[in-house]
Amino acid sequence: MNNFHEWLREKQAFVEALLEKKLPQISHEIPLNEAIRYSVLNGGKRMRSLLVLATAEIIETPLIAIENIICALEFAHAYSLVHDDMPCMDNDDLRRGKLSCHKKFGESTALLVGDSLQSIAFSYLSSPSLQVNPDNQLKMIHAFSNAIGIEGMAKGQALDIANTNKKISLEELKKMHQYKTGALINAACLMTVLASKSHDKNILNIIDTYSKLIGLMFQIQDDILDKEANQEILGKTPGKDEKDNKSTFVSLLGVSKSKELAAEYYEEALTALKPFGDKAYYLAGMAELIMTRSH
Ligand code: IPE
Ligand code: IPE
Ligand code: MG
Ligand code: MG
Ligand code: MG
Repeated sequence: MNNFHEWLREKQAFVEALLEKKLPQISHEIPLNEAIRYSVLNGGKRMRSLLVLATAEIIETPLIAIENIICALEFAHAYSLVHDDMPCMDNDDLRRGKLSCHKKFGESTALLVGDSLQSIAFSYLSSPSLQVNPDNQLKMIHAFSNAIGIEGMAKGQALDIANTNKKISLEELKKMHQYKTGALINAACLMTVLASKSHDKNILNIIDTYSKLIGLMFQIQDDILDKEANQEILGKTPGKDEKDNKSTFVSLLGVSKSKELAAEYYEEALTALKPFGDKAYYLAGMAELIMTRSH
């Protein structure tokens, strides 16, 4: 068994090289392709990809399927960030330590970057060369569609806007974060299981429970980091949630209660993995990484 940090370095390099290879080349005719590459490459932590790779450590999944799932996830995620930063949304100038896409390329290009990344994501996921049986591939596409649309990220973003300047309950906040961030993290893990020939309902259920817990924990940490981290480490504008009067775990519970809750989800996620025994080493490592991340 590899040391977790060695594994992490190796997999991060694998993901960067993969994305670099799979993105469209720069076209001199239009700025769109350059803006797409700018928005995906350099700077992302690749957490969703790493979760795919950690899930693939417990269940055999064809490499081509892993690669295409990773592309779909990172492209959809980058699209969500590009749109999240636009003036009509969070109006943020900084992303991954660089100018946000609309600041660098203009709003119309940023809008089209999102449109394009979403469709490229589906193109990779629906590829006929995936080596996954067609029924399961359809289930993967279905899970992914729900996770980024009105049963997932887009709904969460709409709730985020609706819940700004408003006091909401803890249950409502959890629901918002589950849609906004948790759904894609959940889909990342579930799609990896669905792509495997040897998956069964039991594995799917455990992975479902684990990924829902760490998805929620991920956004609690994001809210805490917005309050606590500095700009250089965070690579985005800190203090933005408070300034914009967003509903977050920090605004509702304060930092220390939010940390307690994140720690509870972390413990529950580890407990969920117990039936996998040693095989869950990398998934447990990912839970710890998400729990202790600095940006
Ligand atoms: C930031 O996601 C936005 C959320 C969904 C919380 P990440 O923290 O994964 O951002 P990158 O990809 O590492 O930049
Ligand atoms: C955005 O949440 C989640 C997305 C679906 C993009 P935030 O607005 O808190 O993400 P950051 O802090 O800008 O990365
Ligand atoms: Mg936002
Ligand atoms: Mg934002
Ligand atoms: Mg945030």
